[in-house]
Amino acid sequence: MTSNEIKLSSLVQPHFRRMWRSNASYFVLNGGRGSFKSSTVSLKLCVMMKKQTQQGHKANVIIIRENATNLRDSVYEQIIWALGMLDMTDEFICRTTPLRIFHRRTKSTFYFYGADKPERLKSNSARDVIAIWYEEAANFKGPEVFDQSNPTFIRQKSPYVDKVPVYYTYNPPKNPYDWINRWVTQQELNPDCLVDKSTYLDDELGFTVDQQLALIEQYKKNDPDYYRWLYLGEEIGLGTNIYNMDLFHVVNKLDSGDPILYMAFSVDTGHAQSATALTAYGITAKLKVYVLDTFYYSPAHQSVKKAPSQLTKEIHDFIAKTLKQYPNAQVIKRTIDSADGAMRNQYYYDYRVRWSPVKKLEEKDMIDYPQSLLAQGRVFVLDVPGNKIFLEEHRKYQWDEKTVQSDKPRVIKEDDHTCDNFKYFCLSNAKFLNLKV
Ligand SMILES: Nc1ncnc2c1ncn2[C@@H]1O[C@H](COP(=O)(O)OP(=O)(O)O)[C@@H](O)[C@H]1O
Ligand SMILES: [Mg+2]
Repeated sequence: MTSNEIKLSSLVQPHFRRMWRSNASYFVLNGGRGSFKSSTVSLKLCVMMKKQTQQGHKANVIIIRENATNLRDSVYEQIIWALGMLDMTDEFICRTTPLRIFHRRTKSTFYFYGADKPERLKSNSARDVIAIWYEEAANFKGPEVFDQSNPTFIRQKSPYVDKVPVYYTYNPPKNPYDWINRWVTQQELNPDCLVDKSTYLDDELGFTVDQQLALIEQYKKNDPDYYRWLYLGEEIGLGTNIYNMDLFHVVNKLDSGDPILYMAFSVDTGHAQSATALTAYGITAKLKVYVLDTFYYSPAHQSVKKAPSQLTKEIHDFIAKTLKQYPNAQVIKRTIDSADGAMRNQYYYDYRVRWSPVKKLEEKDMIDYPQSLLAQGRVFVLDVPGNKIFLEEHRKYQWDEKTVQSDKPRVIKEDDHTCDNFKYFCLSNAKFLNLKV
């Protein structure tokens, strides 16, 4: 064995040896979180690059994510990491505008693109392509991007390689009807495609740190189905009920050993038929979430419905009352349904306080946030009258059966106002709550 081979065998999990040595043209690497997919592909690409630059050849690697804003913190950093692991850092220059990493001597380049800017992909004139990588492939809108860009890049193949291998890495979505879960069954039929599934359990080299293993155990204990999806990469299906109600731990009092240090408010508003549902959330020192109390007003069947100026007063009073009970807690955010500008303006006019409109995602993506928090066993609901409706609505919250067997599942939009505010709370405080989905 050469010293290079020794080095690689200490970096690449034995699980990926088959993929590493394979002569296939397409590689689909899927599996659970933390199964070394991204790191392995980044190492592979750097080794391929090294082979070319050592011979003085110019070679280019194309790396694509669903969205340009995610490039820098993920694939760009990932390649820098891999270059470091392979002692190649000094040979390269990293640029952020535009995002590029290039080899000093040969000008060989790692290009990074977001599929949300298709014009950049199309106008790409990089020749000498030696590989393509689609990272987080499940986040793409569909397989069209692959079908459109692969031929373009493959046409620009470097004369020094036989083929341009294409790598796809992703964690399978829960929903078996999600496009990528159907797409992969097609790929399995392609003799020129290697489909590989990995999990964190494939860690023969002992890279996974204890803290990570402890977190995984927490998921496994609290919500085995969620664990199977997130860490074993199984398509567990959506089920009919969106939430497992056992994960909303109803309690009579707070935990004296873990005080509430922060508060956040989140509101879903409605004026004609839909209710206004405002929930006060407490966040503890250990980042547990307490559903403290809920304010709920439904204008349905009321002959005279409350005006925004009446509602803002009631909301303000409710918040003042709750804050009084937790005088030491600091308010970190007030989140409001982004569809409602009127209430937001009214509140600012009345109280000079700005609510943050939530940046909504697709329903199934938004639901991932509360589900992740719940699956970690971090949600507690105070048994107070105001929260009855919170529990009731979450218990009833369901996928619309007619849409469950599709790529775009929808929820039944009835009595889901506290469910909406809970999603908005999780989404807009995701960073603070350390929620990675
Ligand atoms: N060769 C290695 N040495 C040390 N840590 C590694 C190595 N390869 C991977 N890791 C770590 O393992 C973790 C999971 O790897 P990653 O490739 O991100 O998994 P996935 O893409 O499957 O979710 C990362 O935190 C990464 O830093
Ligand atoms: Mg990854």
